[in-house]
Amino acid sequence: MKKVILVAGARPNFMKIAPLMHALKGNTHIKPVLVHTGQHYDITMSGQFFEELNIPAPDINLEVGSASHAVQTARIMEGFEQVCINEKPDFVLVVGDVNSTAACTMVAAKFDGIKTIHYEAGLRSGDRSMPEEINRLVTDAITNVFFTTSADADENLLKEGIAPERIFMVGNLMIDSLTANLKKAEDTSLNFKLLNKNAEVAANALSKYGVMTFHRPNNVDNELMLKKLVKIWAKVSEKIPLIFPVHPRTYKNIQNFGLQAEINSYKNLYFIEPLGYLQFINLVKNAAFALTDSGGIQEETTFMNIPCLTVRPNTERPVTIWEGSNKLLKISEIETEIDLIIQGKGKKGIVPKFWDGHTAERIVKILEKM
Ligand code: UD1
Repeated sequence: MKKVILVAGARPNFMKIAPLMHALKGNTHIKPVLVHTGQHYDITMSGQFFEELNIPAPDINLEVGSASHAVQTARIMEGFEQVCINEKPDFVLVVGDVNSTAACTMVAAKFDGIKTIHYEAGLRSGDRSMPEEINRLVTDAITNVFFTTSADADENLLKEGIAPERIFMVGNLMIDSLTANLKKAEDTSLNFKLLNKNAEVAANALSKYGVMTFHRPNNVDNELMLKKLVKIWAKVSEKIPLIFPVHPRTYKNIQNFGLQAEINSYKNLYFIEPLGYLQFINLVKNAAFALTDSGGIQEETTFMNIPCLTVRPNTERPVTIWEGSNKLLKISEIETEIDLIIQGKGKKGIVPKFWDGHTAERIVKILEKM
C-alpha cells in the first residue's frame, strides 16, 4: 500500500481536494493522508467547505493561521517537515498556487523517497508581482510530477524544459466538484443578510444581478485602486444590482481606508459575508455575469457559460479566454462591457477538454500506476 499526503491550505484548495478524497476512498493500493495547513482557518473560509463538500476531517492540522508571506510559509514548512518525518509518505500531492502549495513542495522535495506531485501545474500569468505566480514557479521548478488542467499549461512546462513523460493533462478538479454539487447547490437559499446593515437581499427576487469577488492584493491592498473600484461598483450597481460576498482581506481594507460609509450609501451594491461553496455556486449560476479578480471563478463561469469580467492585466488561465466566457478588462472598460451584457450580448464560450467531472478518476489511475 502506498501512502499519499494531500495538502489543503486555503479556500480555493478545498474544492480541488474534495474529489480526490472521494475517489481515493476505499482504494486498496493508495492510502490518503489529509493535511490542512490552517492557512485559512475560520468557518467562512474553511470549515463550511469541509462540511458541504463532505471532505473528511483532516488527519493533521498545522494551524499556521494568518501572517506575512515569509512567516506563514516558514510556519508551514516547519510543521510539514515533521509530518513528512512521522508519516513517511510515498507521495506528496499539492494543488493550486497558494503559500501552502509551494511551502509543502519545498519540504517534501528534500526527502529521499518522497515523490512530489503538483496538480494545476504549468499555469503562468507571467506576472511576478502576484504571490501566486511566485508559488507556481517555485513549485513547478522542483516537483517531480505535473498534473495539468489545459494544453497551454503543458506547453509552458515543455518550454521550461520539463520532460513530456512527467506531464499529465488530467482536466479540472474544480469542475469535478462543480458537477457533483450543482443539483444540491440549486436548493440553497439566495437570501443573504447584508454586512453592516440590518437588512437582507433576496437574489432570486431581483430580475437580474451581477456577482462580484475581489481580493487580489494588487487591487484591494492599494488605497487608490480600491477607491477607484468602489466608484465603478457604484456606477455599475445603478445599471444592475451587484452582490459581493466580501473576502476578509478586502473587508479589512475597506474599513482601514474608511470606505464603509460610502459603500453603505449605494443602495444596489449588496455586501454580504463570504459564502459557502453551495450558495456561492447557486449565486453565480443565476447571475447575469461575474465581475472578479479571482482565479477559480474564471473556470467555474467558463463551465457554466456565464460571462466573466476579470479585472486584471493578465491571467494564468488563458483557456477561459480562448475557449470560455472570460474576458480580461481594465477598470475603464467595465461599464461598456456590462452594457453589452445587459443587452444580452455577453461573451459565451465552450467547455475546455477534460473539464468533465472525471478528473479525480484519471488522477487516481495515474497514481496507481506510479
Ligand atoms: C490566499 C491565497 C490566494 C487565494 C486566496 C483565496 C496565497 C499567497 N494567497 O490569499 O491565492 O486566491 O487565499 O481566498 O496563498 N483571513 C481570515 N480568515 C481566514 C483566512 C484569512 O479572516 O480563514 C484573513 C487574514 O487575517 C488575512 C486575510 O484574510 O488578513 C488574507 O488571508 P491570506 O490567507 O493571507 O491571503 P488571501 O488574500 O486569502
